[in-house]
Amino acid sequence: MTLEGRSALVTGASSGIGAVVAEALAAAGARVGLVARRKDRLEQVLARCREHAPDSTMWAADLSDLDAIADLAADAERALGGVDVLVNNAGMPKRRRVQDLSPAEAEDVMRLNYLSPVRLTLALLPGMIRRGRGNLVAMGSVAARLGPPHEAAYAASKAALTAFWESMAVDLDGTGVRVHVVQPALIAGTELFTLPGNEEPISDLSDALPPQEVAAAVLDVLATGRFEQYVPGWFSEMASGKAADVDAFVAGVKEWTRDRFQP
Ligand SMILES: NC(=O)c1ccc[n+]([C@@H]2O[C@H](COP(=O)([O-])OP(=O)(O)OC[C@H]3O[C@@H](n4cnc5c(N)ncnc54)[C@H](OP(=O)(O)O)[C@@H]3O)[C@@H](O)[C@H]2O)c1
Repeated sequence: MTLEGRSALVTGASSGIGAVVAEALAAAGARVGLVARRKDRLEQVLARCREHAPDSTMWAADLSDLDAIADLAADAERALGGVDVLVNNAGMPKRRRVQDLSPAEAEDVMRLNYLSPVRLTLALLPGMIRRGRGNLVAMGSVAARLGPPHEAAYAASKAALTAFWESMAVDLDGTGVRVHVVQPALIAGTELFTLPGNEEPISDLSDALPPQEVAAAVLDVLATGRFEQYVPGWFSEMASGKAADVDAFVAGVKEWTRDRFQP
């Protein structure tokens, strides 16, 4: 698809999925705005985006600082001439079983993974409605729908994001603003599994897919207008299987988890 003449703001664009999504949007013709905390890493991604879209730009910002988000949104609208596509991708993991989880950790995850994208979205939405067009993309996770072990705080933040997006998709009917959530499973080439303050991943990372698959899913939902896209797509069958019998699903995950921790 072409995004020629459009603008896109991508959060969490300094590494992993966000960096690859930003480049893919720039390659599709959009001028992109990049947001994350690490300036040096953003500059590297920005240089690659500018090869396709010379008017691309960046902001080094901590999105956990919720009160700074309105100013960031206003700056982005000014610099990009309005934001057509917002990809709320910045996020943090929290691999820790609930017995070891502190309330502060649960709140930190919710602040970055849920409250911050909601703030940014609500700040940019009036401009999109005024222009009669826009695309609001959330980077969810299969954890939003499948309640993984040792990830209660993370799963809850992605479930909250998904629920907000689902209702928002209905509310914005007829405005020209379209709403999408991409739900990746295990994705390689990111820093999510090596950040400090987390348990070792339980899942087998050799199954992880490249971040380009997620970028393709983002371009796909923008082109088709589809609401939800799993990566890989067959996870939608697992989600519908769970919905059909939640007790059986939870029993199965308990058994899988016990097997993983068997000496
Ligand atoms: N990798 C997977 O298997 C997987 C699966 C499902 C969903 N996801 C989701 O995909 C998204 C991207 O994750 P990733 O796997 O690409 O991991 P990553 O490489 O760790 O990327 C996370 C991005 O978020 C940014 N970020 C973190 N805290 C921030 C803050 N306080 N303010 C601003 N930016 C912040 C990071 O940049 P700075 O550190 O420079 O701020 C980085 O650019 C996340 O929402 C994650 O939950 C990943």
